[in-house]
Order: sequence, then structure tokens, then C-alpha cells
Amino acid sequence: MSERILLRGGRVVDPAAGRDEVADVLIEDGAIGAADGSTAGATVLDADGLVVAPGLVDLHTHLREPGREDKETVESGSRAAALGGFTAVSPMANTEPVADSAAVIHEVRALGERAGLVDVLPVGAITRGLAGEEMAELGEMVEAGVRVFSDDGHCVPDARVLRNAMTYARAFDGVVIAEHCEDRSLAENGQMHEGEHSYALGLAGQPREAEEIVVARDLALARLTGGRLHLCHLSSAGSIDLVRRAKAEGIRVTAEVTPHHLVFTDDDLVTYDTNFKVNPPLRTPEDRDALRLALAEGAIDVVATDHAPHAVEEKEAEFDLSPPGTIGLETALAAVLTHLVEPGTMSVTRAIEAMSTMPARIVGASDHGGPLEPGRPANVVVFDPTAAWVVEPSFGSKSRNSAFLGRSLTGRVVHTIHRGELVVAEGKAQR
Ligand code: NCD
Ligand code: ZN
Repeated sequence: MSERILLRGGRVVDPAAGRDEVADVLIEDGAIGAADGSTAGATVLDADGLVVAPGLVDLHTHLREPGREDKETVESGSRAAALGGFTAVSPMANTEPVADSAAVIHEVRALGERAGLVDVLPVGAITRGLAGEEMAELGEMVEAGVRVFSDDGHCVPDARVLRNAMTYARAFDGVVIAEHCEDRSLAENGQMHEGEHSYALGLAGQPREAEEIVVARDLALARLTGGRLHLCHLSSAGSIDLVRRAKAEGIRVTAEVTPHHLVFTDDDLVTYDTNFKVNPPLRTPEDRDALRLALAEGAIDVVATDHAPHAVEEKEAEFDLSPPGTIGLETALAAVLTHLVEPGTMSVTRAIEAMSTMPARIVGASDHGGPLEPGRPANVVVFDPTAAWVVEPSFGSKSRNSAFLGRSLTGRVVHTIHRGELVVAEGKAQR
């Protein structure tokens, strides 16, 4: 059913239109309408003191379906996304079976349509079975609508395989190869960042160089092939330096950072809380500060959640045996508002650009990311930038492994409007 909704008197932050002003936003027939002050037949939502922005877009989500529906399904993950203010998410291909064929892509997209809470734009695998050996059916998956390819969870270990994929991807307009940068020979068995804390805790470490070596290699391959490269979840200051240089040189690269790498460090591992065990590992305060600055300045283009749900019993296992990952969809916006916007590191506009406008462009989701102009699809988030809350273990996600559990955050999603429909109202999922 298509609703007529008037968002009255909110602060419209719309980077794609260069707008930051108090205005009404009318939504009708799934699209932005022309607000003329008339409220006839409309549900009026008071947005005084709230921010109205294009719905958030997550380039890096793990929805676990098919295969691990006990951790998350496309539906539960979509609900978590909508509760977090997202209107589109890109689930990674590391499912069981792997999303390395058009069939799995169609299946995941159909599940997303059935849930109908956010747009689900699946990522395709670069290599068959994520094995790093033979290229997957990229052409077939492009035809099925895939724009981002990644073996995320794994790095593509072989430079020649990645070169071929990047060269092949060039034949298709707007296709991006996204890399999980981790040299396996250096990272294997590493439980956390290699440094003072890993020595003291007696845990095997992963040095920064495990990431930086692959970042350097992949930038060289992007230069060689002219292909578009996206670097997933960067964690080290050295990686940022490499990206800055590559961008100055004109290499076609974009990069992402997760909320948890912007907030936490290896100091947080001292309690052996497995919710802080993530890949790549949380690094030092110096790395975190470099990531914050790079995001503010645009050297890092986007924030992506790397929402990685895991079962309680898995996360309760011994540190060495517990799988890496934290959920993130429902805390991402608040984490960025609390730790970057409130302290003045970056503006609300830059936050929306990094969480909506830019990721929408990278994944080619032209219905998302704004501008919120008449006739455009109504994908909108409304949030209270001053609402304080504590993260409780009650999530839309099926999993609870959040690094943010128990933390105080400022900024809360009030409404999420997906294609003109109010899917989250007053902070509650409508389905
Ligand atoms: C991810 C997962 O659980 O699938 N885990 C993680 O710690 N980031 C894989 C990944 O994004 O690399
Ligand atoms: Zn990854």
C-alpha cells in the first residue's frame, strides 16, 4: 500500500543536492513529492529537531543466508538494517553455498524482495567457492545485476587471478572488485593486532603488514589494469598512506572503514571479550585516529558495517576458537554520530555522504543516496541526533555479538522509509 507521508520541519541533510536546511519533505506513491504545505490525506510526522536524510547504504553486510540461517536470514538482517536507518545493503558472497553464480544471486535478491524492508543488492564472489583459484562466472552475475565482486572473508591470494578479474571486470560499466586485504602467510592464526597487547595477553598476532602488503599489491594491479578497486575494512594507518598516494596518482580506488575500527582499539581486547575479535583486528589508538581523520577528509570514502553475525555458542568459545566478527547494522549511525560528529571530527553532512551518498554511487544504486528531490524514489532515514541510549542485547538481528553492547551512544533512528513505505516508525520495525 502506498502511503502519503509528510515529514514536517526536519533538518534536511542531503549531500547529493548540497542541502542542509529546515524543510518539509512529502512522500507519495513511493517517491519524493513536492511539499506545498498541504497535509490533505497525509500522515504527518513531526520532524522538528530531527535530521531527514537519504537512507543509509551498507556496502559490506553478512546476511548468512543461504546456509547459516541460525545466525541471520535475509529477512532478519533486512530488519536489522531498516532499524539502523539503512534502505539498501550489499550482502557478501561468503554464504553456503557461496554466491558465485547467478542462481545464488537471484535467490538472495528474491529473499530480499520478499522481506521488502530494504533493497538487497548481493555481492558476487570473485573466485569459484571463494577458493582463490578459478574466476567465478562474473559475466553471468553481472547480467543478474551484480556490481560488486568480492571474496570477502578471504583475500584473493594469487595476483594473477586478481589481475584477470580486474581486467575482465573493466568490460562492464561500473563494476568494482572489492578486496579483503590480508596476506594469509602473515595473518594465519593471528587472533588480534600484533603488538604490545598481543604479547602481554599471550595471543598470536596479525601485523599491520598483513593488510598493507595486499593493499600495495592491489593498488599496483589497479594501476596495471585500469580496473576499479574497492578496499574493504581498512584498519591500519599505513594502508591509508598507500590509498592517499594512489588517489593522488589517479588510480581508481575507493576504501571503507567500519564503525568498530573507528571506535575501538586493541586496548579493548584486555578482557578477552570475543565481541572485539574481528577481522581485520582492532589496532592501536594511533591507527584509529588515522582512520578517523582519513574518513573526515575523504581519503577513506565510506563507512561500511561489516555486520558479521555469529551464534552465541560460537562467540562463547575460547578466544582462539571463536569466529571473528561483530554485528553492526543497528549501531553504525549512532557510533559515527557519537564518536566522529559530536566531537567535531566531521560534519553530519560528511557522515551522510560516507554512509549513503558515496556507498550508493560505488554500488551503482541510483535509487539511493539522494538527492531527495521530487520524483526520486523515497528512500529516507529520519534520526534524532541528540537521543542518548545504551546498547542492549535486543536486536532486530538474530545474533547478539555486538562490540557495542553496554555502550552509551548518542543518535537514534526514528523512522526509515523504504520506497515510500514506513518500514520503521518511532524506532519500531513495522513488520
Ligand atoms: C566476517 C564474517 O564473519 O563473515 N568476519 C569478520 O570478522 N569481519 C568476514 C569478513 O568480513 O572478513
Ligand atoms: Zn572481510
